[in-house]
Parts: sequence; C-alpha cells; structure tokens
Amino acid sequence: MEYQAKELFAKHGARATLGVVVESADEARKAAEDFGGVTVIKAQVQAGGRGKAGGVKIAKTADEAQEHAAAILGMDIKGHTVHRVLVTPATPPQEEYYFSYLLDRSNRSYLCIASVEGGVEIEEVAKTNPDAVKQIPIDPSTGVDDAKARSIVEEAGFPAELRDQAVEMAKALWTAFVEEDATLVEVNPLAKLEGDVLEALDGKMSLDDNADFRHEEHAQYEDKDAADPLEAKAKAKGLNYVKLDGQVGIIGNGAGLVMSTLDVVAYAGEAHGGVKPANFLDIGGGANAQVMADGLDVILNDDQVKSVFVNVFGGITSCDAVANGIAGALEILGDDATKPLVVRLDGNNVEEGRRILNELNHPLVSLEETMDGAADKAAELAHAAK
Ligand SMILES: Nc1ncnc2c1ncn2[C@@H]1O[C@H](COP(=O)(O)OP(=O)(O)O)[C@@H](O)[C@H]1O
Ligand SMILES: [Mg+2]
Repeated sequence: MEYQAKELFAKHGARATLGVVVESADEARKAAEDFGGVTVIKAQVQAGGRGKAGGVKIAKTADEAQEHAAAILGMDIKGHTVHRVLVTPATPPQEEYYFSYLLDRSNRSYLCIASVEGGVEIEEVAKTNPDAVKQIPIDPSTGVDDAKARSIVEEAGFPAELRDQAVEMAKALWTAFVEEDATLVEVNPLAKLEGDVLEALDGKMSLDDNADFRHEEHAQYEDKDAADPLEAKAKAKGLNYVKLDGQVGIIGNGAGLVMSTLDVVAYAGEAHGGVKPANFLDIGGGANAQVMADGLDVILNDDQVKSVFVNVFGGITSCDAVANGIAGALEILGDDATKPLVVRLDGNNVEEGRRILNELNHPLVSLEETMDGAADKAAELAHAAK
C-alpha cells in the first residue's frame, strides 16, 4: 500500500510525503486537526487509480477530513475494500512526473521507466505520447550509481532546477529496490512542490516473496483482508495452493505434474461444457493421509468445485502410501467428503496402490488408468454436476 511503500522509500533516503494512517473518520478528523490546514485523505488499498475512483480527496477543514474519510472507508476500489485511509498535509504538485524500477523478465535485467509526463496512467502516456516515456535498461551488476542516476535524469528530461534532487531520488529508490528485494518500485506522481522540492506523493512497491526468508519484517505488509480465504487456509496448512476459476479440483505431487494436469483438464473440459481446473495444488513428496486430507479439505470447501482429480506419480512416496493417504483422508473427512474423486496413480508400487483403492470401494472414488482418461472422467463428472 502507498503508506507502506513511502515508509520504505523514506527508510532508504527518498523524500516522500508521509502522514498518519487511520481506520475511522474520527481519527481522520483528529489527524487533520493535528496537521492543521489543508489535508488529503487517501484510500489505502493494494490497487492504483484510487484518485479516479474517488479514493483521494482534498479536505480544507478537519470537518471535511472527517466527511471524506467516512465516505472513503468501506468504499470498494477494484475489488478491494478500503479499511484504512492515509491523512497527509496537502502538498499541491506544480508538476507531476513518473519514475519506476522494475524487474524486466524478458530481458533478464532491470529497467527504469521515467517520464516527465506523470500523474496520469503511464500506460496512457505510452500510447498517446510514447516519446515522453523513457525506458532505460539497468545493468544488474553495476546498478544505479551516481553516473547512471545522472544519465537517467538527463534522458528523462527532468528540469534543471530539480536535477540534483532527481539524481538523489533515483539513487535512493534504487537502494530501496535492492535492499528490500523488490520487483517493482513505482512513484506516480513524483512531484515538483512549492519551492522546487522533489517528493514522492504516491508510492507502490512489489516485494519478491522468494526473499521473504531474509525479510521477516515484510510479513506485516501482507494484506490479510484481501487474501482469498481458501488460499489463506491452504497457506496456514503449509500447502502450495492457488485458487483458479474452474470446476475440477486438482491435487497432484510435484509442480510440473500439477501444471500439466491443469493443461490436460482444461483440454478435456472442452468436450464437457468447457469446464476448467479449479486450482493448483501441489502436495509435494510426502503425500500422507494428513496432507491429503488437508488438501482435499481446502478443495472440497471451494463451492465452485464439482469433481476432484487426484493425479499422483509414486516416487519416493510410493503409490500404496498415497492410496492409504487417500483412504485415510476420506476417513478423516467423513461426511465432509461430498464430491466425486477421480484418482490416477502411477509409478512406484502402483499395483498395490490400485489394489488398496479397489478394496476400499468408496462410492465417491473412481480409479482411472491414464492421466488423459482421468482428466476426461473428472471433466465429465464436473459437467454433469453443474
Ligand atoms: N499530498 C497531496 N497533496 C496534494 N495532492 C495530492 C497529494 N497526494 C496526491 N495528490 C493528487 O492526487 C492524485 C492521485 O493521487 P495518487 O496518490 O497518485 O493516487 P492514485 O495513483 O491511486 O490515483 C495525484 O496525482 C496528485 O495530483
Ligand atoms: Mg498515483
């Protein structure tokens, strides 16, 4: 969120408009009173375009601050409910610029995007006035030193009176980008304020969660309100789960197998009313009863799911252990297991695994020999139940 990004900017020496974050209109009034004068009330959600959506309002008095906060709190902005607003002193921008660093995956490098035509959506500027948007590659091994910062600032065309500040800004934002293990640092607008002061009025950062292990303090930035409840539940159980939009629940072991299972189910679904996979779920190597039960529990609680495809290749955890895991999971879940399971087992000890499931003879479980056959069956069952 903006206030968090700007706190991180400030931590690394980039000048940003800070303020007070509050969760009620009364607190907003209090904050505005404390600041005195004109304030800005800004919705704090993990989405841009808040201004256009009515989530950024100028308040001339503390009364107005309270009114605006009351209107903005609870507002829905691009699917995010506003639970907090930032109250900051109004610092009217004389000019608005755009500045960002991002991970450029296709070039395996970093990229700086800078424009003196900021404030509005940069995608729009890129369309209507592409020459005004400068894209400057950054060599990861040298980063943004003084000389690089200066060349960025010159290429972007920052006005002469702001150049030195812009160089410092470019370096400080780069430090924030590297030190915080970010994949994006974006300032829009980077603003020229009264007295020729350059300051970040807005801010956005995406943090690379692969680096979470060295940033315990980043846990505080997770937006628990916005997380999908099923994904939150899966995360709490240590499962590798991503909610998708289809009807066939998927459980597999190994990310590669699960990815190809999604493909075959999507393909099979074309012949069955266009049903699609409902999730990604990799239960990893140790497919024991508890892990299987946890996985099934998450998937069966997805109202969209009409059938479940369990696709396991027995390796170190052999098929009989997986079959026992499925049997144990069905026992743990009892009456909570309500949707048909199509199981495809292959690999180590497959005969024994199949024997266990045949013997179990559970009314919800059907066993298929091949991955394509199982995908087709699961799609057919999901379509029939729709
Ligand atoms: N502290 C402030 N003082 C005055 N105007 C502001 C302030 N913060 C933002 N604005 C104005 O509101 C616009 C939108 O705010 P911004 O923080 O960029 O939100 P978003 O990008 O989500 O719309 C800015 O482009 C700027 O013109
Ligand atoms: Mg903005």
